[in-house]
Amino acid sequence: MTQGIKDKIVVVTGASSGLGEATARLLSAQGATVVLGARRADRLQALAKDLESRAGKALALTTDVRLREQVKALVDSAVQTYGRIDVMVNNAGLMPQAPLERLKVDEWDRMIDVNIKGVLYGIAAALPHMQRQKAGHFINVSSVAGHRVGPGFAVYAATKYAVRALSEGLRQEVKPYNIRTTVISPGAVATELPDSVTDPDASTRIRTFYEQTGGGSGRLVRTGGCLRDEPA
Ligand SMILES: NC(=O)c1ccc[n+]([C@@H]2O[C@H](COP(=O)([O-])OP(=O)(O)OC[C@H]3O[C@@H](n4cnc5c(N)ncnc54)[C@H](OP(=O)(O)O)[C@@H]3O)[C@@H](O)[C@H]2O)c1
Repeated sequence: MTQGIKDKIVVVTGASSGLGEATARLLSAQGATVVLGARRADRLQALAKDLESRAGKALALTTDVRLREQVKALVDSAVQTYGRIDVMVNNAGLMPQAPLERLKVDEWDRMIDVNIKGVLYGIAAALPHMQRQKAGHFINVSSVAGHRVGPGFAVYAATKYAVRALSEGLRQEVKPYNIRTTVISPGAVATELPDSVTDPDASTRIRTFYEQTGGGSGRLVRTGGCLRDEPA
C-alpha cells in the first residue's frame, strides 16, 4: 500500500491521535505530503512540526468534521497549497457505545454527525477536485463493527455499516473519473477511541475487551482485524 506514495498529497481527518496520526506518520515517512485535520490544534501543530523535523511536508488545519465548510476549507487548503489532492482519508470517528435503552440520544447524534456526515463532507469536499483531476483515492475508515453488530454497539455499528454503504456507492459511481475507493475495517487497536464511552458498564466492558485483544492505554500495539480493499 505504500508503493507510489512519494510526493502524493494526502488529507487525513482525525489526524490528532490514534489511527489517523499513525497513518500520517507512516505516509510522511514514505514521502507523502500530509494535510492534517482534527479539532485539537495543539496536537495537530505538534505532529506537523515533528514530521517537518524529519524532512516531511505537513500542513495542519483545525477542522471539525461536523462542519461542512471546515472540511471544505481543509481540502481546499491542500489543493491551494500543493496544487491537488491525491488521497482523502476519512478517518475521524468516535465510539461512545452504550445499550440503546440508556437513550443516550446526544451521543447517537454525535456519532451520526462525525462518523457518517463527516465522511460525506469529506467526499463532498474532495470529489470535485478529483473529478477535475481525473484521479484520486478515497480511503474511508469503517470497522469490524461495520460488518457485525453486538450489544451496546448498535448505533456505532450503524454508522460504520453506513460508511461501507457510502463507499460502495461511491466506488460504483466514480470509476469513470479514475477515482479509487477503499474501505478499511480495523479490529481492536489501542487508541483513544474508548475514551468517548460515557456509560460506566460499557466503559468497563470495552476496556477489558481492548486489553484482551492487544489494547491498553493510548499506544498502538497491534491491529487485531482485517484490512479490506474494495476493488476499483
Ligand atoms: N481503535 C479501534 O479499535 C478502531 C476499530 C475500528 C475502527 N476504528 C475507527 O478508526 C477511526 C480512528 O479512530 P482511533 O481508533 O484512531 O481513535 P482516536 O485515537 O480517538 O482518534 C479519533 C480521531 O478522530 C478525531 N475526531 C473526533 N471527532 C472529530 C470531529 N468532530 N472533527 C474532527 N475530528 C474528530 C479526533 O480528533 P479531535 O478530538 O482532535 O478532533 C481523533 O483525531 C475512527 O473512525 C474509528 O471508528 C477504530
